[in-house]
Order: sequence, then C-alpha cells, then structure tokens
Amino acid sequence: MSKEQTKALTLEKEGHPELGEVEGIPLVQVTCNEWQRIQSFQARPDDLLICTYPKAGTTWIQEIVDMIQQDGDLEKCKRAPVHHRHPFIEWVRPPQPSGVEQAEAMPSPRTLKTHLPVKLLPPSFWEQQCKFLYVARNAKDCMVSYYHFQRMNKVLPDPGPWHEYFEMFMAGKVGWGPWHDHVKGWWKVKDMHCVLFLFYEDMKKVMPSPQDLKREIQKVAQFLGKNLDQELLDKIVYHTSFDVMKDNPMANRSGVPRSFMDLSISPFMRKGTVGDWKNHFTVAQNERFEEDYEKKMAGTNLTFCMEL
Ligand code: A3P
Repeated sequence: MSKEQTKALTLEKEGHPELGEVEGIPLVQVTCNEWQRIQSFQARPDDLLICTYPKAGTTWIQEIVDMIQQDGDLEKCKRAPVHHRHPFIEWVRPPQPSGVEQAEAMPSPRTLKTHLPVKLLPPSFWEQQCKFLYVARNAKDCMVSYYHFQRMNKVLPDPGPWHEYFEMFMAGKVGWGPWHDHVKGWWKVKDMHCVLFLFYEDMKKVMPSPQDLKREIQKVAQFLGKNLDQELLDKIVYHTSFDVMKDNPMANRSGVPRSFMDLSISPFMRKGTVGDWKNHFTVAQNERFEEDYEKKMAGTNLTFCMEL
C-alpha cells in the first residue's frame, strides 16, 4: 500500500475524513490518490453505466435494472449486495478490490455505476459509445438525503449541523461537486450519446396507481432491448418498492460494516419520498436556495417536480 493510501485510510479509520479534489471537484481522498488508474479505465462497448448524483435513487434504479436483466429471477438478483453486483468505478478502499478491479474481473456485458460528473468520466466510455442511464432527483431532496447519508457514512466528511451543511451543498463543496453542474452536464450530453435520462420524481408518482413507475420501468426495459409482460412488470414494481427494498439485505446496506456506515444513526433506505426538504429547509433557506437555483439553472429546459 502506498504512503498516500495508508494516510487516507488512517484518516478514514478516525472517521469522517476530509475530501480531496480532482479538477476542482471534491472527491473521496483515496479516489483522488488513484485518479490515473480510474481515468485510464477501459470501458467495453456493451457496458451499461448507471450515472447519478449521490442520493438521486441510484440503488433503486440498480435494482430495477438488475430485475430486468435477470428476467425477474429474484434468486439471481439476490446473488450479492447491490454495490457488488454493479462495480462503482471510482470506489477505492484498499485492501478490498477497487471498483476498477472489480469491473476488470467481470465478464461482459457489465453494468457499472458512477457518480462522476461528465467532465471526469473516463474517456473510454465515450470512445466505446456505451449506454448511459442517468437518474436525476430534485436538488432539495438530494441535499437532505445527502445530509443524513453523511451523518452515518464514515468515509465522507462530518456534515455538521444542518445549517452548515446547507451552506456546503449550496457552495458545491460536497463529494462529487455541485448538484447543478452534474445534472446540467449530463442533460447536455444526453442527445449526443446513448443516454436514457430519468427523474426520481417520475418514478415516485405511484399514487393512486403505480402507472408512472411502470412507464419508467418500461422505458428502461426498452433501452436495454427487453420486452416486459404485465406479470413481470408487476413483479418488478413490487420488488423494487421502497418497503420491500428496505427489508432486502441485498439492497439496504445492512451487511456493510458499522465502521463504514452506521445505520443506527440514519438508515440507508431512509424515507424514499419527494418533498422531505420541507421538513428541513427554513423559509429563509428556501428563498436563498430558489434565488441561487434560478441563476445556476438559467438557460436550461430542465424542470423538477419538488412535491407530489
Ligand atoms: P432518502 O434519503 O430521501 O430516503 P442512492 O441510492 O443514490 O444513495 O439514493 C438513496 C435515496 O434513494 C434515499 O433517499 C433512499 O431512501 C431512496 N430510495 C432507495 N430505494 C428507493 C425506492 N425503492 N423507492 C424510493 N426511494 C428509494
């Protein structure tokens, strides 16, 4: 293990290390240390890359994709925890195999995961013309979800009290950088590459019937070249519902060591709702957020539903 890795891991062991930075984007320090290796990652033409800003519903779409790929075979979907089924390419945690190493050892076709913004994606993904599945979630709920995630995740910095975290998020000083640039970046490339762009809020429109989630699942299936009959669609809707995933040890991170994620502080499967920001934002914070949001999102035709 290199000196840098040992130092970063010692910091991790102490809990809540600071972030490093690559091209102005804050990333976990051990990831920064391995950046050359990550950048030279070799994508294959039949890779599917699931891309999200953190806390946008990555695990949810991963389960949906896996259910579709495994033709609804639950046993196959439970072959490993979701974070092992789909290697996370910028993941580094020696002595465990890194995301790159896990992906390299995987037979094709591979489904991989990343939170990287467009500008940091290893170039081979573009060169190989891979398929990208991007899920976007509204910024306010992402911020709230990320805050609770950082409270319990010892690999990321301590978020401090909510009002401090709010400022950090607004300034883009959180892991994987500013939400706005991430979402705008992927939105911009979506028509130039093979990108299916979905919204968490569209998937959540489950009341009074799960019609909209079904529509989104069908879009994913078509994108993957699969046809789902009604029975299989119903099965996927059921097994990827929040309540069922919350009880699924292959999705709820219950197997992750407490020194990494302390689920007694905040569960991984926390609320799974749209609009929880209203329980956190003060009126003044909301006004500031809106003003800043308008400036940063000006000129895009991206709109988010922030309440259901
Ligand atoms: P909350 O913290 O708001 O509950 P990620 O997988 O990108 O880390 O995202 C985690 C967020 O997605 C959490 O949000 C989690 O509860 C939510 N989530 C996970 N599975 C879900 C599901 N089946 N339905 C709705 N939300 C889900």
